[in-house]
Amino acid sequence: MTLILGIESSCDDTGAAVLRDREILSNVVIGQDALHAAYGGVVPEIAARAHAEKVDIAVEAALAEAGVDLDALDAIAVTAGPGLIGGVLSGVMCAKGLAAATGKPLIGVNHLAGHALTPRLTDDARFPYLMLLVSGGHCQFLRVDGPTEFRRLGGTIDDAPGEAFDKVARLLGLPQPGGPAVEAEAKTGDQAAIPLPRPLLDRPGCDMSFSGLKTAVLRARDTAVAEHGGLPKQTRADICAAFQAAVVDILTEKARRALAEAGDVTAFAVAGGVAANQAIRAGLHAVTDLPVLAPPLALCTDNGAMIAWAGLERLRLGMTDDMTLAARPRWPLDDTAPALLGGGKKGAKA
Ligand code: KG4
Ligand code: ZN
Repeated sequence: MTLILGIESSCDDTGAAVLRDREILSNVVIGQDALHAAYGGVVPEIAARAHAEKVDIAVEAALAEAGVDLDALDAIAVTAGPGLIGGVLSGVMCAKGLAAATGKPLIGVNHLAGHALTPRLTDDARFPYLMLLVSGGHCQFLRVDGPTEFRRLGGTIDDAPGEAFDKVARLLGLPQPGGPAVEAEAKTGDQAAIPLPRPLLDRPGCDMSFSGLKTAVLRARDTAVAEHGGLPKQTRADICAAFQAAVVDILTEKARRALAEAGDVTAFAVAGGVAANQAIRAGLHAVTDLPVLAPPLALCTDNGAMIAWAGLERLRLGMTDDMTLAARPRWPLDDTAPALLGGGKKGAKA
């Protein structure tokens, strides 16, 4: 039996959790939405300060909720990247302090590995499996062969789909987060009424692009406004339906290719806020006969439990770190994949 603390602070959620093997004893997440709301995106300096203020509070709350003393822990795991560096540093410094004070092993975890290994925590997924991460900050297909073995089959070359949903909502005067708002609006829309492109679908491989789609939505909105002197309610719903249908088409076609490229896998796992979208879920179910694993939303979005779990997997392999553990803004899971350019509103996509 292993008791492990996991700390997450790479974006805009301060997370701390205690796991006893696969059992989640606590999973505290302190969000920062209100702090960033006025800026239309995560402000790195504000995020860093909030993490520095809240990380010890989150850890204390997680230990208290779990009924576990620091001394009872077997190890302390922390996100060491990739992400907004100020936040990552807050978590790493906190974890180092705790490890130094208690003499417990310190384990630096890749944030994306945390997401990618979550299906093993929630569904006991067997290696190898295919993973699609789709959130406000991530979008990639990974073949997961082991706790430290990931092959990146493709991903977005610009925005993450969640970012695109959020931007489209802003363009159409819908509330944030944009995903649920656009999905609700799309229900009464006619996707065929607004022609939108499917960027990169005509190119081989599993890479995706969403920024052109965003621009196409802007044009569709402006055309409607010029024609009607405002945005008619039905047109807004039509644009939402058309945008969502385009995202579904892109993700499902690329998933089909990723499944073919991944070869023999035991399951297709999806995680990230965007995976909450019913149309996207239905589309992904339709492309495979494999079990489709979708961890509950609270474990799909950023949290400390996934970091604790990934840390546990590393601990079992004897992989611990020392006080030289560095916070890394960029840290690709698959060192063999070509580096990506640019970082989205939620930071580097690694
Ligand atoms: O994984 P997540 O909670 O956070 C990070 O990206 O860190 O994902 C949030 C993203 C937001 O962009 C939000 O608009 C999107 O997931 N999202 C959705 C839906 N629910 C959340 N996108 C499409 N449809 C949804 N139902
Ligand atoms: Zn994340």
